[in-house]
Amino acid sequence: MLVTFLPMNKKIQINAGSNLFHAAMENGIDFGGVCSGNRTCGKCKAMITKGNNRKYSKEERKLLTEEERNSGIRLTCCFTITEDTCVIISGKKEKQSQVSRKEDKIEDSFGNLLTNSLAKEHYGIALDIGTTSVAVRLWNLDRKEFIDEISTKNPQSLYGADVITRITYANSSGDNVRRLAYLIRECCNTLLLRLSAEHNINTNQIEAAVITANTTMSHLFLGKSVEKLAKVPFQGISYEGVKLKASDVGFQMHPNGQVYVMPGIAGHVGSDTLGCILAKDLNHAKGNHLLVDIGTNGEIVLAKEGELMVCSTAAGPAFEGASLHQGMRAIEGAISKVNIRNNLIEVELIGPEKGSALTYSMNRNGKAVGEIGDIYPIGICGSGVIEAISELLNNHIMDETGRLLGQEGDNNYVTLWKHHDKEVILTQKDIRELQLAKGAIYTGIMLLLKEAELSNSQLNYIYLAGAFGSNIDLKKAVHIGLLPPIEPDRINYIGNGALDGASKVLLGQISKAETESISKKIKHLELALCKEFQEEFLKAVNF
Ligand code: FES
Repeated sequence: MLVTFLPMNKKIQINAGSNLFHAAMENGIDFGGVCSGNRTCGKCKAMITKGNNRKYSKEERKLLTEEERNSGIRLTCCFTITEDTCVIISGKKEKQSQVSRKEDKIEDSFGNLLTNSLAKEHYGIALDIGTTSVAVRLWNLDRKEFIDEISTKNPQSLYGADVITRITYANSSGDNVRRLAYLIRECCNTLLLRLSAEHNINTNQIEAAVITANTTMSHLFLGKSVEKLAKVPFQGISYEGVKLKASDVGFQMHPNGQVYVMPGIAGHVGSDTLGCILAKDLNHAKGNHLLVDIGTNGEIVLAKEGELMVCSTAAGPAFEGASLHQGMRAIEGAISKVNIRNNLIEVELIGPEKGSALTYSMNRNGKAVGEIGDIYPIGICGSGVIEAISELLNNHIMDETGRLLGQEGDNNYVTLWKHHDKEVILTQKDIRELQLAKGAIYTGIMLLLKEAELSNSQLNYIYLAGAFGSNIDLKKAVHIGLLPPIEPDRINYIGNGALDGASKVLLGQISKAETESISKKIKHLELALCKEFQEEFLKAVNF
């Protein structure tokens, strides 16, 4: 069937019976849904002006207003293609497609803009390609000034939520590696175009890009085989930094622009971990410091008087919200804080403006307290889950083995917020997922400390990095046993350390030669080969 996407006028042949959301994602079109097509977030809206002949699903009746349904708006993850279809993408996507057209024109008419000295300011981007999300930071290179940061879901998620399933898919055919490379390059380029459009920057003024990623994502970005990353001893093809021309990877930057993929460290410890090390200058740090970067993979760095040791552990996507019943990234509508007191459950959700938040309460009988505005909770992000579990434990709603009390079986759940037919719940299965993830990370920390002959009390600082909201309550992270028990003022949340490190390289604060040299000095501990792993994991898994 021929499906036309407007306003970019992209025409794609899609098989009848395909799901619109997934088929579009496979072709680099993201509708902005945050629940990965699970029909819970209500964000993947588009207007269907041709081929819209199917009844609205019960999820669409719940998540779309009557007015939206009457004007042909659908949730794309609920929509099946049965005939030639025309889809109008609204909001930010419209902006993106306008950008594409504008940039085509600019390339035709100006060619080598910089060599004509027409570009007054020079820009660069730092990118962090995670298994679940991709984040891009735009910098003015002349003034070394931060301009903006945006992120989106990694479109490869369609082919597996975690690194292992992504590798399995890639290994099943050579074409799959090419497809995954295409998807991630398209995604990075779309973010680049969006930033340049939102800040009125000619794409020819973007001269440099520095990419940081875990080893699997780096390999897939470069179109390299990931076969050896799937089996012991989990080796990548190479960990060297790679310099490319922008046109080699389809980035619409200055024609002579350079893309630098930072060097990795080991099979499952990539340049994102190196980025965190550079961000905190751990290779020069006095004393003992621990850095924990939590993504789909948990990477842990121990710096003992500047000597660096790393390991990685499969945390799964729970902390990034991807595998939970109503999990989502830390974006608008996500519950990021939970407090239970005086018979009230209070949730704080991320608001529409940067740094804004809204608070709602519900009594323990499930009745919302106070006014409900237009923006209400639609899911829960990693920091929200940590908070919820800590509060459930504190209030004896869950025991330290992770079992919800007073309820039997695995289909139990706790309602965190409810108003009429809208609700956000945390299920027993969600708790089990997070329990395994935090157990794996804590085990990695303990084994690194053992290897370095250090104890918790000898740690000067712990740095926590990852895709949490910036307000993560570190006391609660210690309370649930994610981090070792040291004084809260010696634990710092550093946000996206990988992107901080890539930005330092982009701005020339650390040379590429130094970056390569640091990566080669780091000692890697392979947890899969540690005899004590199982024993430590069993100790670490309880709350
Ligand atoms: S992606 Fe369709 S409802 Fe969330």
